[in-house]
Amino acid sequence: MSLVGSQGILSATEILIVAAVFCLVCLLIQSFRQHVPKGLKRPPGPRGYPILGNVLELRKDPHLVLTKLSQKYGDVMEIRIGTRPVLVLSGLDTIKQALVKQGEDFMGRPDLHSFRHVTDGQSLAFSPDSGEVWKARRKLAQNALKTFSIVPSPTSSSTCLLEEHASKEADYLVTKFLQVMEEEKSFDPYRYLVVSVANVICAMCFGRRYDHNDQELLSIVNVGEQFGDVAANGNPADFIPVLQYLPSRSMNLFKDFNKRFIRFQQNIVKEHYETFDKVRACKTLTAPGLSSHSLPFCFDTITTALSWSLMYLVTYPDIQKRIQEELDQTIGRERTPRLSDRGTLPYTEAFILEVFRHSSFLPFTIPHSTTRDTVLNGYYVPKDRCVFINQWQVNHDEKLWKDPLVFNPERFLNAEGTEVNKVEGEKILVFGLGKRRCIGEHIARWQVFLFLSTLLQRLEFSVRGGKKVDMTPLYGLSMKHKRCEHFQIKLRFPMKSLK
Ligand code: HEM
Repeated sequence: MSLVGSQGILSATEILIVAAVFCLVCLLIQSFRQHVPKGLKRPPGPRGYPILGNVLELRKDPHLVLTKLSQKYGDVMEIRIGTRPVLVLSGLDTIKQALVKQGEDFMGRPDLHSFRHVTDGQSLAFSPDSGEVWKARRKLAQNALKTFSIVPSPTSSSTCLLEEHASKEADYLVTKFLQVMEEEKSFDPYRYLVVSVANVICAMCFGRRYDHNDQELLSIVNVGEQFGDVAANGNPADFIPVLQYLPSRSMNLFKDFNKRFIRFQQNIVKEHYETFDKVRACKTLTAPGLSSHSLPFCFDTITTALSWSLMYLVTYPDIQKRIQEELDQTIGRERTPRLSDRGTLPYTEAFILEVFRHSSFLPFTIPHSTTRDTVLNGYYVPKDRCVFINQWQVNHDEKLWKDPLVFNPERFLNAEGTEVNKVEGEKILVFGLGKRRCIGEHIARWQVFLFLSTLLQRLEFSVRGGKKVDMTPLYGLSMKHKRCEHFQIKLRFPMKSLK
């Protein structure tokens, strides 16, 4: 049918197509030219290419690129990934203003393609929900973690369940390291760390531990990279919809991993109900609060912290020695370190803080989004704006740190070296801030302390002669270093079972 007679210029179909294209162009123009209320400004930022936005600049090490750009455009900056605008926040004060003082406005999570696959879109950390259901689940998970970490251990002399499990696991790890050292003469510690860390969480959550060769556990804990690559801030497939339909090996691995993890979790919970049914409290942990949040993220972050710590220890043997001297003087060689020793080991604590700061292995928080139209530092930010928080920038900001690129634990000590300067420690940003702040922070800090102090009390770490460790971070949700198979250990004093 023709609208303009038999020689009509346009058919109905053509008119429809033209109208559809016109609407699309209008929509595109509108999305580019967003309305900014009078008296407010739109955040500044680099000009991007049409359709692609700034995606090409962000291909490698986005945390470094965005840190550099923030020096030009300021703490509140807007970039585009594809056609989607993203707000990038830098500077500790600006980030505190957004996440703490205007916490309600900035507590959302964007609805990203990759996040929909994390625990079937039900993840406490990654799902776009930030309403009443998320609040209730967060509270439930926080209570469960608190109960199962700080509760006094009923069966041992440990201060709490976390201490009992972490000490026991660190002990197994010492034995495991000695065994592989004996058999292989050098080894990659990451593979063993990850199982030990997962075992502490599994012991607390589900009351069971796994052997270092357990294939089921290995298949889900040794895939941190698959998780971190796809869930990283700035993954183009999250922002340019057409990329979601192209074949992607990393996305397939990611989906497969998430499915395997859900199966693993379901099995463990089922088994747990069968064996622990009488323990009423344990049911709290298997309730949706904790069981459906992202446990791989929890395993992965603590393992990454420990693994970076070992890399720094072999790179700076003098620092390792100083920690060991402090452990010898304060704890001695007759008993294992305990949580209550934390305040009496300032150099060890300062080392852990410096590992968090210098490595900044979580360069960004999990992306946020705005829950309503808001204003930050005089800039207008509309509802549903995706927000990246650049933690790496804060931890390397020359306004906050002297020689930020230098690894120096002493920056956290008082002049006499006898106490940790708490104010300095609080400037580090690794667990996020405000309403979405990490709920596992205490567990993570305690576990890292107990593992490191136990390992360093007994073992001396080094790398095989002539080999160098590569400390270049590999970008991801959590940044890893290249695996190193050349680690060696020496027992510091004859092994006997410590109290
Ligand atoms: C060194 C270890 C860890 C680091 C550096 C870390 C860091 C973080 C960061 C940066 C966030 C995002 C904050 C934000 O989006 O603003 C986060 C969220 C979260 N973390 Fe951790 N984390 C660690 C260990 C853990 C552990 C052991 C657990 C569980 C036992 C855990 C559970 C969570 C949960 C559930 C969230 C999401 C909170 C929410 O969205 O409401 N984390 N963590």
